[in-house]
Amino acid sequence: MRRKIVAGNWKMNKNVIDAQQLMVQLLSYKNNNTTNCEVWIAPPSLYLMMAKDVFEKDEIGVFAQDISEHESGAYTGEISVDMLESIDATGSLIGHSERRQYHGETDSHCNRKVKLALDKGLIPVYCNGETLEQRKAGQHFEVVKNQTEVALFTLTAEEIKKVVIAYEPVWAIGTGETATPEQAQEIHAHIRSIIAAKYGQEVADEVSILYGGSVKPDNAKEIFSQPDIDGGLIGGAALKLEDFSKIIEAFN
Ligand code: G3H
Repeated sequence: MRRKIVAGNWKMNKNVIDAQQLMVQLLSYKNNNTTNCEVWIAPPSLYLMMAKDVFEKDEIGVFAQDISEHESGAYTGEISVDMLESIDATGSLIGHSERRQYHGETDSHCNRKVKLALDKGLIPVYCNGETLEQRKAGQHFEVVKNQTEVALFTLTAEEIKKVVIAYEPVWAIGTGETATPEQAQEIHAHIRSIIAAKYGQEVADEVSILYGGSVKPDNAKEIFSQPDIDGGLIGGAALKLEDFSKIIEAFN
């Protein structure tokens, strides 16, 4: 059974008071409800230690939104895998399209970051997905294949099983335009087949693949019911308990 996950990426939102309030609400929700999936959040790095304090029994997984490709040293503004390990964080997002778009991140960077995270026992949530231009040009299968191969195919079979992949078509992020469940399913199945071709079906069947891009309470159930979709990476709808909890409940 693959792990089922609903992960909230808070991006660059919330001041410290609002961040703490949502964490406390999430804790109370988690303690008072049975959930059929793991629940993770990726708050801004400034709030990671606070999140670890609030979720002291690991009720909710705590993820960074990015990590450095370097181990330590003169890299102003970055956080390292050692730092995450030292606060007992669960893992980190890697290669989110906003990191690619605004910070020039490539799949070679992602490859180093994924490996560093795994070496510290952190879960890498490796994000990929095509742009609108690439989709219109019919290149989406090829783009996602190349991304996956460059970022992940230096890993061993044991390592890749620990990676969570988040397929996020760039044209669906924050736009209100969601991939249809069928569009998402066909790319998820494609990603799984690429992994199967390299590592074997048994390994591919263990890799959780999340969908991200305008997942909302009213479309989550249909998206998550697709056979190769193991949950979601949620942006805007993760910022309010009311919406986020409904998305979690899409697994009930
Ligand atoms: O990391 C989350 C994704 O970028 C999706 O964001 O749900 O606001 O479209 P969104």
